[in-house]
Amino acid sequence: MLERKITSDERQLIQQAHQLLPGGSTGNVYNDVIVGRGSGSHVWDVSGNEYVDYLLGSGPLVLGHAHPEVVQAVQRQLDNGTTFFATHESAIALAAEVVAASPCAERIRYTSSGTEATEYALRAARAFRRKDLVLKFEGGFHGMNAYSLMSLAPSDPPPFPQATCDSAGVPGVLREEVLIAPFNDTETTTAMIERHQGQLAAVIMEPFQRVICPRPGFLESVRSVTERYEIPLIFDEIVTGFRFAYGGAQEYYGVTPDLCTLGKILAGGFPLAAVAGRADMMRGFEPAASKDGSFMPQIGTLNGNPIAAVAGLATLEVLRRDGTYERLNEMGRQLMDALRDILSRSGIAAQVVGEPSVFDVVFTDQEIVDFRSYATGDTGLLKRFNELLIAHGIFRADTKFYMSLVHTPEDIQSTIEIFESVISQLASE
Ligand SMILES: Cc1ncc(COP(=O)(O)O)c(C=O)c1O
Repeated sequence: MLERKITSDERQLIQQAHQLLPGGSTGNVYNDVIVGRGSGSHVWDVSGNEYVDYLLGSGPLVLGHAHPEVVQAVQRQLDNGTTFFATHESAIALAAEVVAASPCAERIRYTSSGTEATEYALRAARAFRRKDLVLKFEGGFHGMNAYSLMSLAPSDPPPFPQATCDSAGVPGVLREEVLIAPFNDTETTTAMIERHQGQLAAVIMEPFQRVICPRPGFLESVRSVTERYEIPLIFDEIVTGFRFAYGGAQEYYGVTPDLCTLGKILAGGFPLAAVAGRADMMRGFEPAASKDGSFMPQIGTLNGNPIAAVAGLATLEVLRRDGTYERLNEMGRQLMDALRDILSRSGIAAQVVGEPSVFDVVFTDQEIVDFRSYATGDTGLLKRFNELLIAHGIFRADTKFYMSLVHTPEDIQSTIEIFESVISQLASE
């Protein structure tokens, strides 16, 4: 059986990682591969094995690793100061770009991570509505803040709208502050919002939930019922922002929320994220809001960091060029189609789901519309699929393929050939 070749140096690093880091990992990926470097669409482990990279830093690297224009912008900024805490030019330039790009964005407030951005978006909605309850969708991922950990991936989900917390260490009392709805179920979601409209501060959702596409009309129905009751609708666009289209999922699906969160591509691979949205809902971030008790202090040492801001600006500049999204989607489409075809010939029950720039395989015969149908996927088969991909030179997150603009036709061709070998091996085991 094909296995990854590991040098004694990497073996030693893996051992050290297990001594020093809980689970032997920085917490994101537990595959015991120690990455050495990345360039363009490829990464190398410290043993020297080369991979076509579909992890791409979990999405920010839509221009691949060490893109020359991003590197140049960062190097220039390094010579001019790495952090100011105070307001600076590139933070304003990036804010102007977000406002021009994202349909809902009138004001923007920076954070250092997406986790903070979703937490602050919820807080802004609460301050605006002066209510506490929020509705999120089962299986929806909004980072690691306490509210977002509710019904993130429940192994034994309680009936809707009851929340369960998928992390230890979170006060149980917060469960009462979150209602859980089924993604893509218009009737149940609408009824839940109508029933609780008097207490709801916000509805937060990934418009494209993990790898699950919204059914036609679903986002529109959530928009319409939240608008009717003046409940702030938050689109978490940390993944989809600047990826599905320059204006994110809002532009791609044609539904405008009140607030959104952005991260990943926004900072071109550096730590920066943001809340953006309607000026009246963002007003709580202004000290003047203390007059009516709706001020939210929001301080962070690295918020809006200039290195991250210039990396984001350089990335967005490339994305604005003609044909970028067509190219990104065309490559993803080729891989999705090939994967679907190879899987259907193999006889393995599987669904290829997602949009062309972010997709995955779920090993099930069920249509994937929500967390519960997604959870019918055979996790053992998925684990084996991922192990075989790594052994054959494909690097990715456990549950997603991210596309970049720097994947080459050769990458796509070799990936399709690897899909053939891996799936035929899966079918024979
Ligand atoms: C949809 C979504 N929201 C929020 C986050 C959290 O962002 P961060 O990892 O920057 O905290 C992520 C991270 O992957 C995400 O995918």
